[in-house]
Amino acid sequence: MSSTPTTLPSLATYSLLGRSGLKVSPLCLGTMTFGTEWGWGSPKETAHRVLARYLEAGGNFVDTADGYTNGTSEELIGEYFAEHGSRDAVVLATKFTFNARAGDPNAGGNGRKNIHRALEGSLRRLRTDYVDLYWMHAWDGLTPVEEVLDTLDALVRAGKIRYVGFSDVPAWYLARAQTIAELRGRERVCALQLEYSLVERNIEREHVPAALELGVGLCPWSPLASGLLTGKYQRQGEEVSGSGRLAAIRGAGNPNFDKLFTDRNWEIVDTLVEVAKGIGRSPTQVALNWITSRPAVTSTLIGATKVEQLEENLGSLEFEIPREVAARLDGVSRPELVHPYIFFGPEMRARITGGTTVTRNRG
Ligand SMILES: NC(=O)c1ccc[n+]([C@@H]2O[C@H](COP(=O)([O-])OP(=O)(O)OC[C@H]3O[C@@H](n4cnc5c(N)ncnc54)[C@H](OP(=O)(O)O)[C@@H]3O)[C@@H](O)[C@H]2O)c1
Repeated sequence: MSSTPTTLPSLATYSLLGRSGLKVSPLCLGTMTFGTEWGWGSPKETAHRVLARYLEAGGNFVDTADGYTNGTSEELIGEYFAEHGSRDAVVLATKFTFNARAGDPNAGGNGRKNIHRALEGSLRRLRTDYVDLYWMHAWDGLTPVEEVLDTLDALVRAGKIRYVGFSDVPAWYLARAQTIAELRGRERVCALQLEYSLVERNIEREHVPAALELGVGLCPWSPLASGLLTGKYQRQGEEVSGSGRLAAIRGAGNPNFDKLFTDRNWEIVDTLVEVAKGIGRSPTQVALNWITSRPAVTSTLIGATKVEQLEENLGSLEFEIPREVAARLDGVSRPELVHPYIFFGPEMRARITGGTTVTRNRG
């Protein structure tokens, strides 16, 4: 029996972001590495070459935040488009939430006063008069959800932002916000940005089903676990060798990075390196390919501190992972099945459906 060949996506194979009319590439260029202020990014010339190469390859989705490299990331993007004049052809996304003035509680968070302050700063640095996708960077645990929705809705109506996304939020908060937005006729949330990779799959429990149910496009960040999944770091006992961001900041007390060097993660890296070799691809490309084909994922945020890295990463769309390889990767990285999710797995489902197979239509 012959199988129908599938068409592989390219950077210029655009998808709708969630239940919106915004069309985005399967790989979004993350620019947290634009600028050297944080000790592990790239200077202007490299950042501009990375951006130029991404756009030349057909990419149309660029992600930044007001606070990345203390504002330099937004400034470098603004400079680039001011020089090259193609700003309207890209989906430019930035974020608000983090505090910009120590000691001032209203210079951070998700209240109306801070959202307006943050947006004015971003528009100035980006040298534009609108943002295509405005992300709430993180849940602040404080602001009433109605105020967040009303503020963002008003900004859409004023033409200052085009679409709304949430990053780093609990799934219940997304569900509450989306339901209120729908019932009150406010701008819906079209995208969700969360850490997701072969070594960080915890969002599969709540956020992935929520994104599918609520019509939200998932945009994973740190798909290479800050470089760990490239296979360029090695362990010798307690020592870690290899150069890059993780080596530069190891032991500096950032829990997001220090959590990465665990026995479990080294086992995932070992398996990844082995299977990648077996199919003639790099671990980087296999790790990125794996994430781009996960349920709910619309566009994956990639990072590159060199043009050569970007080139390799773009090659992740050129192949399909064989089923047996995918099964090995899934097996070694699967998150622990904890309560109450054990009730939603295939064994319990069979006890609910009486052993029959029932599929559901998502409409
Ligand atoms: N919403 C949030 O809270 C949040 C948080 C983090 C990131 N983000 C977004 O997600 C984007 C991507 O995150 P990320 O930079 O952490 O992604 P990542 O893909 O996990 O890590 C990218 C880093 O890995 C290394 N790398 C990438 N490709 C490589 C290659 N082919 N060979 C060797 N090394 C390679 C580079 O660092 P070195 O050269 O230093 O090794 C690069 O900067 C960010 O730019 C940002 O837009 C969002």
